[in-house]
Amino acid sequence: MSLPTRVQLVDVGPRDGLQNEKQPVPAAVKIGLVQRLQDAGLTEIEVTSFVSPKWVPQMADNAEVMAGITRQAGVRYSVLVPNMKGYEAAVLSKPDEIVVFGAASELFSQKNINCSIAESIERFAPVVAAARAAGIQVRGAISCAMACPYEGDVAPERVELVARLMKQIGVQRVDVADTIGAATPLKTRRAMEAALKHYDLHDVSGHFHDTYGQALANTYAALEMGVWNFQSSVAGLGGCPYAKGATGNVATEDVVYMLRGMGIETGIDLDKLVDAGQYISDFLQRKPNSRAATALLNKRV
Ligand code: HMG
Ligand code: MG
Repeated sequence: MSLPTRVQLVDVGPRDGLQNEKQPVPAAVKIGLVQRLQDAGLTEIEVTSFVSPKWVPQMADNAEVMAGITRQAGVRYSVLVPNMKGYEAAVLSKPDEIVVFGAASELFSQKNINCSIAESIERFAPVVAAARAAGIQVRGAISCAMACPYEGDVAPERVELVARLMKQIGVQRVDVADTIGAATPLKTRRAMEAALKHYDLHDVSGHFHDTYGQALANTYAALEMGVWNFQSSVAGLGGCPYAKGATGNVATEDVVYMLRGMGIETGIDLDKLVDAGQYISDFLQRKPNSRAATALLNKRV
């Protein structure tokens, strides 16, 4: 067991979180959220996605949001891109990183991006090549790495396959994603090991939804393997419109609270992060979906 001394978090709240909201969220609120996240010390923020507005109307303001953020030196702003059309639109917004998103489950690939896993890799290849040639970083998300809402249990071999295919087309780092938040720690470990067959420890991150309340335990299981990159969502926002019933990502506040208690550095100011979570939760007219944020807010009163 070798726990890392430092963890790098990507807050995916503006994208994974807000893509799933029923009520429209104005671009100005999204921009305000990104600002508060960077003020809290987040150095990686997944801002939006350049997907079809017919599929995900909540992200139709992608270019407006990217144009509205005030970029801070040292912060990496990433966006999701499913195909060349998305890339061509995204590149005008000058992202630091694009994220191609595939799946370890065939049925989820079909439901989410309307193609097979093999077709998705064919689609991603020219996108990855164009981004790399333009000096834009490329990350790849492997959805349903442990479980699928349509196929059930997903074998680690499927994760290994997608990691291998992503590596072959030049994806620089991968997210092992528990899209529906159903995984438990040993299952998480096996999925991580599968990705690590093709990617260096520094290039594999955990993306855990918290539907069954397992995400912090899964994070700890990955930490024990030395994994030090994770994605989380402020206020526990999130879900995928094509994974019904899945709730948000593990709350960034909960992860930061745990890591701080373990003496693991994140560079994030927990109080300011709680403010960011409160800001978006106030807009959405609900309480932050984070136990740590709730406890800290209760203490403030
Ligand atoms: P399709 O219908 O097969 O695409 O969708 P198409 O190429 O046949 O095009 C159909 C129409 O969409 C055309 O317009 C295209 O121009 C347009 P029309 O002629 O009908 O007016 N179109 C686009 N418009 C804007 N931007 C684009 C784009 N591409 C085509 N990029 C497609 C295929 C991939 C586009 C669609 O399935 C899609 O947009 N899917 C995205 C679904 C999504 O965003 N899911 C959530 C993100 S993934 C996630 O949350 C998981 C993650 O968090 C990790 C985890 O937790 O697992 C990352
Ligand atoms: Mg997700």
